[in-house]
Amino acid sequence: MIEGRPSDTALQVAAARAAHLRFDPAPHLLDDHQAADLLGTEALSMVDLYADDGPWMLVENRLFLPLRARYVEDRLREGYLRGVRQFIILGAGLDSFVFRQPKELEDVRVFEIDHPSMQTWKRTRLAALGWAIPDNARYVPCDFEKSRVPEALAATDFDRDQPAIVSWMGVVYYLEKATVDAALRDLSSILAPGSEVVLDAMRPWDELPERYAEIRAMMAAYLSGAGEPQVNRYRKDEIIRAIRVAGFSEARVEDREEIERRYLSPIETAIPLSHRFRLVVARVE
Ligand SMILES: C[S@@+](CC[C@H](N)C(=O)[O-])C[C@H]1O[C@@H](n2cnc3c(N)ncnc32)[C@H](O)[C@@H]1O
Repeated sequence: MIEGRPSDTALQVAAARAAHLRFDPAPHLLDDHQAADLLGTEALSMVDLYADDGPWMLVENRLFLPLRARYVEDRLREGYLRGVRQFIILGAGLDSFVFRQPKELEDVRVFEIDHPSMQTWKRTRLAALGWAIPDNARYVPCDFEKSRVPEALAATDFDRDQPAIVSWMGVVYYLEKATVDAALRDLSSILAPGSEVVLDAMRPWDELPERYAEIRAMMAAYLSGAGEPQVNRYRKDEIIRAIRVAGFSEARVEDREEIERRYLSPIETAIPLSHRFRLVVARVE
């Protein structure tokens, strides 16, 4: 992260969600109509990079990034049925859930926790757009490398006795593994039974199809220029072990074929599901 600047990767994720609506036919995985407005005119040109004739990795992201947001919101819907009314978004970036919160989930309280530089930028942008902050939204600044999530949440009305769904998408690989371990321990210590942490982890390069080797140097150069180098990757067993050691009762890596069946079969797309990420669920029983 570059102090005083928004996370460039957060802008990119919002651009991918906006591009999904612009370039892919309905039905969409996620109807994030707020993403384009949140980006602002300057960043909006990013959306064009995700067109069919753009770099193939960005086209893959145009599918995977809305899919992972939809996946989290599906976990929230499932949690809601068993009484979950709290939604924590760690490293929220330009997440727009609170502005398109469905009626049937309207009593869910949303805690957006993010790096202070990113959150300040977002709140300034929201003010410029004139969007009223919904009553159920809480904005909680926290630099995961310097502060602890439980302390940040202690300043809010987060209820430790009630379950929560925690979204931790697009963040883990920007943190040192020791920071990930500490955050997982912190989360397992404050989350009530019935809670879940849903995250994506980056797979090691040697597990990926060959085409990914072509983009390795270009990705590293972009990310280091943005001040957001990706500093970790996890094998399946390793992320499961990290979650279990942190005290969660269950750790599950989603099956790729099942994700394809659930999310890609119902839509019209020729874009392959990215191999770079794993979707992972940590549960508190
Ligand atoms: C790729 S974006 C993902 C944003 C959002 N979760 C999404 O999927 O649209 C990465 C997010 O992680 C946050 N982040 C990165 N390093 C962080 C840190 N040390 N502390 C807090 N947030 C951090 C950034 O501010 C940014 O919002």
